[in-house]
Amino acid sequence: MKIQPVEYVWMDGKFVKWDEAKVHVMTHALHYGTGVFEGIRAYPSNGNLYVFRLKDHIERLINSAKIYMMDVNYTVEELTEVILELLRINKLKELCYIRPIVFKGLGEFGLNPFGSPTQIAICAFPVGAYLEKGGVSVCTSSWRRTPDVSMPSAAKACGSYLNSVLAKIEAVQNGYDEAIFIDINGYLSEGAGENIFIVKKGVIYTPPVSSSILEGITRDSVIKIISELGYSFFERPILRSELYVCDEAFFTGTAAEITPILKVDNRIVGNGKPGKITNEIKNFFFEIISCKKPKYQHWLTKVY
Ligand SMILES: Cc1ncc(COP(=O)(O)O)c(C=O)c1O
Repeated sequence: MKIQPVEYVWMDGKFVKWDEAKVHVMTHALHYGTGVFEGIRAYPSNGNLYVFRLKDHIERLINSAKIYMMDVNYTVEELTEVILELLRINKLKELCYIRPIVFKGLGEFGLNPFGSPTQIAICAFPVGAYLEKGGVSVCTSSWRRTPDVSMPSAAKACGSYLNSVLAKIEAVQNGYDEAIFIDINGYLSEGAGENIFIVKKGVIYTPPVSSSILEGITRDSVIKIISELGYSFFERPILRSELYVCDEAFFTGTAAEITPILKVDNRIVGNGKPGKITNEIKNFFFEIISCKKPKYQHWLTKVY
């Protein structure tokens, strides 16, 4: 996905020009991965722009920072205002991606993060689709998902993503669109940057938080949609073999939204086309982000 530069970035309390949003090469986070971040989407609708589940994303950012003992010296309300203002001063009206990052900056040398200042920056820029929306071909990765006992899955931390980068390299080099992790106990975990759901005989399943997943905000939205649609749903450990014989499978994520999985390790999922239940959930999700579901309007924050 290309980054489309905009005019302003918000950095450490100020709006600065895109080209001036820089850090030193001795920035702690660059060497040790000591940063936490978020991925948020804003959707155009009715001539306005709406940020999807903004409060939930900011709360997760603050919780990720808490795990790594970084002080975010802004409240949820303050960061909400900053993000809305950032979209406005960049005059963004199209589909956008918003990337806040809290990280350890230039300070002392060495692993101890407390000698380095905590910095914060937020970028917002126009985007298109992350994965091929019609459906993807995936592989299970030979890399296991980092277990929560080694690196907390609840934190969306920069360093944790090296595990995902390894899986992504393996997937693309072998001709797949995306990788799925198996956790340390042999159960399905999640995609390199998405949560996963499977459907078997009309029942929907997703791996639990104990399978070292990031608790996705799209995952949570989909769980609520499933309940609204009235399907049976279980959050339970899932075997790799269950993925091979399921009727439908799909990814969820801010970037991936709802992406059907059509092939796993060269085995066709269901009939090789996006499944009926997947499409039903996807359509419901798209109605929510298009402001067509008043019950879920509180998930959308109006920009203008
Ligand atoms: C590893 C991982 N799992 C799951 C997700 C999905 O989370 P969300 O729906 O909050 O974007 C993401 C994307 O942020 C991710 O990077």
